[in-house]
Amino acid sequence: ASLELGPYSHFMQKEIHEQPRAVADTIEGVIDAGEFSAELFGPDAAEVLEGIEGVLILACGTSYYAGMTARYWIEGIAGLPCSVEIASEYRYRDAVANPKTLVVTLSQSGETLDTMEALKYAKSLGQERTLSICNVPESAIPRASRLVYYTRAGAEIGVASTKAFTTQLVALFTLTATLAKLQGRLDEAGEADYIDALRRLPGSVQHALNLEPQITAWSEHFAPKEHALFLGRGVHYPIALEGALKLKEISYIHAEAYPAGELKHGPLALVTDEMPVVVIAPNDSLLEKVKSNMQEVRARGGQLFVFTDADSNFHPSEGVHVIRAARHVGVLSPIIHTIPVQLLAYHVALVRGTDVDKPRNLAKSVTVE
Ligand code: G6P
Repeated sequence: ASLELGPYSHFMQKEIHEQPRAVADTIEGVIDAGEFSAELFGPDAAEVLEGIEGVLILACGTSYYAGMTARYWIEGIAGLPCSVEIASEYRYRDAVANPKTLVVTLSQSGETLDTMEALKYAKSLGQERTLSICNVPESAIPRASRLVYYTRAGAEIGVASTKAFTTQLVALFTLTATLAKLQGRLDEAGEADYIDALRRLPGSVQHALNLEPQITAWSEHFAPKEHALFLGRGVHYPIALEGALKLKEISYIHAEAYPAGELKHGPLALVTDEMPVVVIAPNDSLLEKVKSNMQEVRARGGQLFVFTDADSNFHPSEGVHVIRAARHVGVLSPIIHTIPVQLLAYHVALVRGTDVDKPRNLAKSVTVE
C-alpha cells in the first residue's frame, strides 16, 4: 500500500472511514455560528433565498440520490415543494420554469457535464436563483452558480462515491433547516435541537463504522450471488438506491432498490432463496410497514439482511439476519444508515476480488456526454 493509504487497503475503505472527520468539517461553520443562517451559503444568500416558492435539485449518480433524500427533508421540514431530476433528463425536456424556484445542483467534482448543462438550461428558462453544493472549490459548477456551499470531504479518489455523499446530505440538511427558518417553520427550540443533532452526528457515524466486523461476516452470503434486492421506505428509500448502486458499481452484482411498499407490484416475483434482500429498517414511523413487507419476502423463502437501530425491538430469526446501529438518531437517520450499505458493497467486492477503486467502465468524473 502507498503512504497515502495508511492502514487501509483501498481508497474507498479509507474514504468510508474518513466520514466522521468529513462530516465534522462540513458542519463546522454551522456549529461555530450556533445557528442556521443564509450567510452560510454566501454573502448574497439572504436575497437569493428570500421568497423562494420551491426547490429544484439537479444531479447525476450518487449525487442524485442525495437529492432524492433531501426532497423528504425540504418538503417535510421547510414546507417547500421540491423536485429532483436527473441532470441528463432535465436538460433535454421542455420543463416548466418558475423564476422563484431555487435551483440546487449537487456535484462532488463540480465538473460533471450533464449537471453543468442542466444548470445552464435552468438559467436559460429564467431561473437565476442558483446554489451549488460541491466538493471541489472553484470548479465549473460553483463558478456558474450564485450561491455555493462547499462540502469539506477532502479529495475523493475511489470512483464509487462515499464521503462525498454523506457530506452532501449534511449540507442539504443545513439548507433545509435554513429554509425552514426563513419560512417561519423553525422556532428557537427546534433550531437548537437540530444544531445539537448535527454536533452529535460525527460520533454516530463513527459508531456505525464500528459495525464493520459484522458486515464483513455478511459479505460471504452475497459474494456468490448474481442478484440482490434493496428495500427502504420514506427518507431511507434513496439510501436503499445508493446501497444498490454501490454494490453494482464495485462488485458487479446486479442490484436493484425498491420502495418496500412497491414489492407487491413486481419485484416480489423475483424473490427466491437465491435472492438476498437487504432492508433498511430504522426505528421510525414506517417500521411496522417495513416489517410487513419483510413477511412478504420471508413467505417466498427470501433471505433478509436487515439494518436497524438498537431501540427497534427487532430480532433475528430463521432467514432473518439483523445488524443494529445505535439508537435511532431521528431526522439525520439516512446519513447513519448509509454507512453499513457502503461497507457491505466494499466487503462483497473484496471477496469477489474486483478492482474496488477503479471499477470497470466507470470514471470518477464524467466530463463528456
Ligand atoms: C460519476 C461517478 C459517480 C458520481 C457521478 C456524479 O458517475 O462515478 O460516483 O456520483 O459521476 O458525479 P458528481 O461529481 O457530479 O457528483
